[in-house]
Amino acid sequence: MADGRCPDKVRAEAAKQLQEGGAAVAAAAAAKNVDEARNALNNSVLASCKGCHGTHRPKK
Ligand code: HEC
Repeated sequence: MADGRCPDKVRAEAAKQLQEGGAAVAAAAAAKNVDEARNALNNSVLASCKGCHGTHRPKK
């Protein structure tokens, strides 16, 4: 995504959040830290879905 394929900043930010959030969930899960994994999932991964869809997902 760092090679100019991103259409705009919203998508770039959401993609970054999704990537980092996913890594945070995986790290917390590996450490068996359930609360931290849940936090990262809710605050980063799920928030990124919404951030990008609000702008980029075609309306029906
Ligand atoms: C970087 C932007 C971006 C992020 C982040 C993102 N999405 Fe999407 N998503 C899209 C776009 C764009 C579409 C519309 C694709 C199309 O219709 O061609 C879409 C469509 C979808 C659809 C509908 C697919 C379909 O066939 O109609 C689902 C379900 C979905 N996303 C789930 C998620 C979930 C769950 C997350 C978070 C874990 C997520 N998305 C994160 C951009 C994103």
